[in-house]
Amino acid sequence: MTDASRPWLAPGLTPEQRVDALLPELALDELVGQLVMAPNLDAVSDGPLIRSGAVGSTLVASGALAGTVRDAGVGSAGLAAVRRVAAGSRLGIPILVGRDVIHGHRSVYPIPLAVAASFDEKLAEELAAQAADEAAADGIDWVFAPMLDVVGDPRWGRVAESFGESPALVSRLGAATVQGLQRSGRIAACAKHFVGYGLSRGGRDYAAVDVGEVALRNRYLPPFRAAVDAGCRTVMAAFSAVDGIPMHAHRYLLRSVLKEEWGFDGVVVADWNGIGELVEHGVAADFRDAARVAIEAGVDVDMVSGSYAQHLAALVSDGVVDRGLVEDAARRVLLLKARLGLLDPPTAAPMPDLARGRALAARAARSAVVLVAWDGRPPLPSSGPIQLTGPFVDDGAALLGTWVLDGDAADVDTPAAAFERLLGDRLVVDDARFADLAGARARAAAATVALVGEHPRRSGEDAAVSRLGLPAGQLEQLRLLRATAERLVVVVIAGRPLDLEPVLEVADVLFVTGHPGIAAGAIADVVAASAEPGGRLPATWPAGTGAVPGWTGEPPTGRPTPGRSRYLDRRAVPHLPLGAGRTWTTFEVGAPDASSGVIPTDGSVRVRVPVRNTGARLGRELVLLRFRDPVAAVSRPTDELADWCWVELGPGASGEALFEVPASAFRYWAPGGERLDPGEILILVGDRTLPLRIE
Ligand code: GLC
Repeated sequence: MTDASRPWLAPGLTPEQRVDALLPELALDELVGQLVMAPNLDAVSDGPLIRSGAVGSTLVASGALAGTVRDAGVGSAGLAAVRRVAAGSRLGIPILVGRDVIHGHRSVYPIPLAVAASFDEKLAEELAAQAADEAAADGIDWVFAPMLDVVGDPRWGRVAESFGESPALVSRLGAATVQGLQRSGRIAACAKHFVGYGLSRGGRDYAAVDVGEVALRNRYLPPFRAAVDAGCRTVMAAFSAVDGIPMHAHRYLLRSVLKEEWGFDGVVVADWNGIGELVEHGVAADFRDAARVAIEAGVDVDMVSGSYAQHLAALVSDGVVDRGLVEDAARRVLLLKARLGLLDPPTAAPMPDLARGRALAARAARSAVVLVAWDGRPPLPSSGPIQLTGPFVDDGAALLGTWVLDGDAADVDTPAAAFERLLGDRLVVDDARFADLAGARARAAAATVALVGEHPRRSGEDAAVSRLGLPAGQLEQLRLLRATAERLVVVVIAGRPLDLEPVLEVADVLFVTGHPGIAAGAIADVVAASAEPGGRLPATWPAGTGAVPGWTGEPPTGRPTPGRSRYLDRRAVPHLPLGAGRTWTTFEVGAPDASSGVIPTDGSVRVRVPVRNTGARLGRELVLLRFRDPVAAVSRPTDELADWCWVELGPGASGEALFEVPASAFRYWAPGGERLDPGEILILVGDRTLPLRIE
């Protein structure tokens, strides 16, 4: 595609120069074609469509619920054939290929909620870079990740795909994931689902979202801003209606905020049939009307509704839609393709290093294990038979988790295999199919390790649950094991925060983690070999289903919890808040101290927190730096995470957590715009408070 008739392909041009040269060549139908994404394109059956320039991108997906229905995989040869057909079209514009790569491609690592437990941006970036390399080698250009929805209602199935409840944690892990995915330059990331999707009423997917601009601006938009600032190439609109306006029709948030206020020059893509669903939402009369509403709102690419393909050109020809809107959207798509090098001479993607992928997955799986309760004795005795029981002992497919499209259950290092490597013939494994048999075996064991929790089918899209206890029958089984086991170690593997209060009553040791991916055996490293439980909770594990939605540090009421605004029949404060978890040793975290009592509005202060390992072995402590703005133009959270620091210390050693705290960390939005108020700011570390002043 380098002949003189295509100057936009000349070597050495910038992406902008290529697009400036190419855009004027496109006829209206070809401009619209760039805005059309058709699923699972086939070079033969879709050849005429591709050659005519009527389609600009495709996605490989099993359908509307790609995260829970496996397909046959990417089919690189088929994609290469599609690319060859596209090269033969009048202008030879390449087709973008999209795929959901949510937590690994072939090297499946823990679900995002479990990666969030690591509080480790560098790890998140490396995991994403590995996934991107593996996807690129399969012919993928566009990955529909990271999911940046800030969550607060664990009934929602998609909590599993999120980085948790803290805007700061979601923002920083999200930006790191964008940088990892886009590091090679071959993959475009996609910040999704813009915006507020995690507030779906009742946790029911697709349900209405009731939220005002103060909460949007201060809690739900920041992760998307962080992704855009990190250079994220695309953003996906959410299915939900925000305060009555469906996101695929939300001109203010898509155009005024994302594209104009933030200067986002990438591509906004619909989510699946999101444009067509504007008819169901009741804001469009039919697909033609939906196409008008969506293009005017700022949705650049129609994923699969067909509304743009069928109606957009006619809407322009009829004078209903301004051709400029279509040209701007097409320009964004062409710029994306140019930035990905798709208008440059093709180069083969390097073969990914799958051994590195497995090592990274194992590191992530260890970092995802949270020790939430421990009686102080080694989890397993040094002699005697050990029983490993529960549905997860060797079910590779279940251990992979939700949204696994290209992983293979056969690649999973199962807990049964890993425990056997560590315990040899001391190990007795049963999948707890017969609870009473498992109970009887517990009687004969020196300790029982029960791997319980949720099958991944309870996670992902349209997978809300109305009860947050363990799945049916598991608590009864744990109580039976409690009655018969010498020692009971419980590992809860789930795709969401669950109500673990009843489990805390029966477990001698309790671990929590998310579906771990191919390195599930890492659980054995922590349980049987006392490796460091590397995680802390990235969200609040609630005190019962009735206590949701909720999260740590919500804005105050006029009559603050726990004295008021609580339930008569249960604890007001959740047992397991954001950051909960511990290690095998103990730490003393001292009072924070600042380099100055004043933070200049354009400056920062250094905050130092002394930390001492008061136990008998090496360990890592996560020090959370939180804050409260006691007086502001709007009601602010009572306890908001601003930063965190891991400190590793040997037994008896002392050290410190160091934070550089800029005044900008305390900017917030109120009607009239972003602001930073002079005045008091309370720095919170542990149960200590350090008052500072912004001046
Ligand atoms: C789904 C999901 C979205 C995914 C897309 C493509 O409906 O909401 O997260 O990326 O469709 O599969």
